[in-house]
Amino acid sequence: MHLPKAELHLHIEGTLEPELAFALAARNGVDLPYADTEELRTAYLFDDLQSFLDLYYSLMAVLRTEDDFAELADAYLARAAAQGVRHAEIFFDPQAHTDRGVPIGTVIGGLGRALDRSEESHGISTQLIMCFLRDKSAESALETLDAAKPYLDRISAVGLDSAEVGHPPAKFREVYAAATALGLRKVAHAGEEGPPEYIREALDVLGVERIDHGLRCMEDPDLVDRLVSERIPLTLCPLSNVRLRAVDVLEQHPLRSMMDAGLLCTVNSDDPAYFGGYVGDTFRAVYEALGLDREQLRTLARNSFEAAFLDHDEERRAR
Ligand code: ADE
Ligand code: ZN
Repeated sequence: MHLPKAELHLHIEGTLEPELAFALAARNGVDLPYADTEELRTAYLFDDLQSFLDLYYSLMAVLRTEDDFAELADAYLARAAAQGVRHAEIFFDPQAHTDRGVPIGTVIGGLGRALDRSEESHGISTQLIMCFLRDKSAESALETLDAAKPYLDRISAVGLDSAEVGHPPAKFREVYAAATALGLRKVAHAGEEGPPEYIREALDVLGVERIDHGLRCMEDPDLVDRLVSERIPLTLCPLSNVRLRAVDVLEQHPLRSMMDAGLLCTVNSDDPAYFGGYVGDTFRAVYEALGLDREQLRTLARNSFEAAFLDHDEERRAR
């Protein structure tokens, strides 16, 4: 669906399509445990977040050089442009690369190269959000923040992702305080598989401005009231929720009741190479499965610009 929109919940590593994975594997001499792209695609049947993360991290082995990261980001931006994206705030997971010996400068250098050309080549303005892997220690996150210091002019915000349950936001209190002191904005995944309490903690302990997912807020009416009255944006990813079994089928996704409750909902693709669609495909899928009308789609698109980290002039230009 080609409505102009901003994408606010997109893991760049989650845009690694099987064809590019095999091309990079060949270029870098990496052996993949799959015969071909078809066999790889048959592995995309997930039971939950962890079963997805296992495959997601293992396939990253093919990403080694600055050129690889630039190619990955450029391919995403081309697809996003074709689906009406005008502004993208893009997550990346530095620890998933530095832990395999790829320097953070290689990751940011490559992504940055593609992002620098994005407005001209694709008509998309961009920002980078550096995510910490919450199943690693707070010390590791602090080391990552430290290693990113030479590149802070390229990074708008910090985020928190990976396996949620058992890794509450409060574990990263110090890390987020340090990020705040560096002038970075803040988001966090919360309430994807974890309880509503993690959403409260992300707001109260980490001071985040947006909640990534936030699906499980619907179990806590007081929390919903608060999110509505404080106009906290939620970056929902309905196709991801189906593939990772947070909801059984798209027809049962609570997006519609969340919008009816007055929540500031946005619709995003999360890891589109794995979950069956980019953001325009996601708009179309919720339109069809949930019977949204055109006005509701326009509201979702408008919300995406309101929730973006753009100032007013930038917002006007992007819309
Ligand atoms: N990393 C990539 N996709 C993710 C998701 N949906 N939840 C948590 N971490 C992720
Ligand atoms: Zn995500």
